[in-house]
Amino acid sequence: MNRKIIIDCDPGQDDAVAILLALASPELDTLAITTVAGNIGLDRTTLNARALVELAGMTTPVHAGCPRPLVRPPIDAAHIHGASGINGATLKPPTRPVASSYAVDLIRDTLRSSAPGEVTLVAIGPLTNLACALVQAPEIAQRAREIVLMGGAIGLGNTTPAAEFNIYADPHAASVVFNAGAPVVMVPLDLTHQVLATARRVAAIRALGNEVGRQVAAILDAYPKDTHFGATGGPLHDPCAVAYVLWPELMRGKECRVDIETEGEHALGRTVVEWRRQKRPANARVLDTVDAETLFRRLTERLGRLP
Ligand code: RIB
Ligand code: CA
Repeated sequence: MNRKIIIDCDPGQDDAVAILLALASPELDTLAITTVAGNIGLDRTTLNARALVELAGMTTPVHAGCPRPLVRPPIDAAHIHGASGINGATLKPPTRPVASSYAVDLIRDTLRSSAPGEVTLVAIGPLTNLACALVQAPEIAQRAREIVLMGGAIGLGNTTPAAEFNIYADPHAASVVFNAGAPVVMVPLDLTHQVLATARRVAAIRALGNEVGRQVAAILDAYPKDTHFGATGGPLHDPCAVAYVLWPELMRGKECRVDIETEGEHALGRTVVEWRRQKRPANARVLDTVDAETLFRRLTERLGRLP
């Protein structure tokens, strides 16, 4: 049976690949895409999400959400994702309008009206929209099947030595989400840095020969490269969250207590993961291992199903 999801995102180069993976996968019923300010401003993340839906040949509604974090001043990652937010892509301007209802209302009302455990939230940007919905309607925390979020780190961050971008951009929102009592699955940098878009893997996507393959290959060519575990390529952070929903057997982790640093000069946005000697009740399943080669092979096959 199709698994119902809502993708909350800030496209964003890797968000783009995550959205296309979800839309290409028949196991998923993507009810809606909600956008938040993050990698780039809300206007751009929303425009990009609409354009990506139409690139995929779909009509999935896109709802705009919060234009800034709960407390912190806005930051962005335009230096990584480009002024458009999806550096490398040449997407046609969308023709379908943004959906009329506000993203926070959509998330809240969908969880309220659906059966408990029916809808999964896949959060791949700053958690501002989810936090607002959870503050307005705390009871929805137990109605989500899972909140699968790309964010945080067991070890080093990527925005500061201590913090990963999605959490650093809105640490107060992250604290609300991790402390709401929801079934959180955390996909941290420790896992996503194992999933690198190497030259060989990008070539396989380009060889698909379809427009989506060309666009994704162009995005990945423009995506900043990291070197981890002896390989070099762009770390595909956000597709890992969708891949967990599709193929959880490809990943491993454990139940841990996770706290978010919302103060401090040097550790702001840190996900403090009780990975060893767990003393306190867990509030998240934290993933640290992935079969990256199988994930990429399946991702490539799915992208080949799109126009
Ligand atoms: O740190 C990586 C995360 O921050 C990804 O979601 C990327 O799109 C940015 O939002
Ligand atoms: Ca993102």
